[in-house]
Amino acid sequence: MTRFLIAATVVVASLAQAQTAVGGPVDPQRAERCAVRLGIALTGKSPSAAVLSSANPQMEVAALLESDAFIERFARFINTTFNDTPGTASVDDPAYHLTRHILMNDKPWRDLFIGAYDVAVSNGQVVVRDDPNGLGFYRSKAWLERYSGNEESGIKLQTAYRILNNTTGLKLTAAVQTPGADFSATGRQNASCRGCHYDGWFALDRVASVLTKKVKTGETITFTAPTAGPQDLLGQSISNDKELMTALVNSTSFDFRVCRLAFQFLYGRNELSCEGPLFDRCVDTFRAEGTIQSALATVATDPSYCQ
Ligand code: HEC
Repeated sequence: MTRFLIAATVVVASLAQAQTAVGGPVDPQRAERCAVRLGIALTGKSPSAAVLSSANPQMEVAALLESDAFIERFARFINTTFNDTPGTASVDDPAYHLTRHILMNDKPWRDLFIGAYDVAVSNGQVVVRDDPNGLGFYRSKAWLERYSGNEESGIKLQTAYRILNNTTGLKLTAAVQTPGADFSATGRQNASCRGCHYDGWFALDRVASVLTKKVKTGETITFTAPTAGPQDLLGQSISNDKELMTALVNSTSFDFRVCRLAFQFLYGRNELSCEGPLFDRCVDTFRAEGTIQSALATVATDPSYCQ
């Protein structure tokens, strides 16, 4: 509760700033362009009459961020950003379902990654439920299976990559499968493989070694506890998925990822170098408030968004 009140106060303050900054005599055409831009970017729709007639549409950003249309649009954006293709069934896209839940309930964005939730099917419907053993949506059964991969000894390289991509924005293109190459853990130590699989902060095999292993019996997939022992990752000793996710959401890369998502959603591109100060403000605001709405509001209420 306290957290929410503080957040609300800060948003009001930054909106007031935006108004002063835009200030001056109101140009109705410019205000209308701004309203249309905000409506389309945040909700995918033309703005409501209230937003259209506002002298400073950026004052309406907080309300737009609470609308159903925004919540739906943003959840879809996250799902397509976090996955290369849509899932076969709705439950295979837990990023969509949990993002909706987090936005609707004003939860911190980190809950998507480490919150105590499970996304599952109940009575034919996909539901988000509280689960003390949950880890965002990353322990939801459908997601675990979707990204369990085909590595010969059950090492979940696809899962490791997906986790790093989702939390930090890391993008790697898996090497084209050369016929005859040795795809085993030993083969992946070769010079042409180890740059992604063993070296660097994102070393996929080392990250995967703290995850559970996949065991496939017929069509049934189960997961067994990791056996490699603690790994030195992200500058700390990490033994399991929960420690991994927690270290990732506490990293600077995570805050940067959040503000890149805000720019991508609002502008359809990454921040430009001249937008460095705005990007830094986005990061500071997100660190202080913890919601993705705070990051989006920082960018969408900046005077530059409606110039
Ligand atoms: C540029 C980075 C990069 C290089 C270099 C690279 N890989 Fe990978 N590899 C990846 C990524 C990323 C994934 C996860 C792919 C995914 O999520 O679909 C992966 C996954 C794999 C998998 C697991 C596939 C599965 O279905 O679970 C194997 C096996 C593998 N790589 C072998 C190799 C071998 C052998 C080499 C060297 C010839 C190599 N890789 C070089 C990035 C790389």
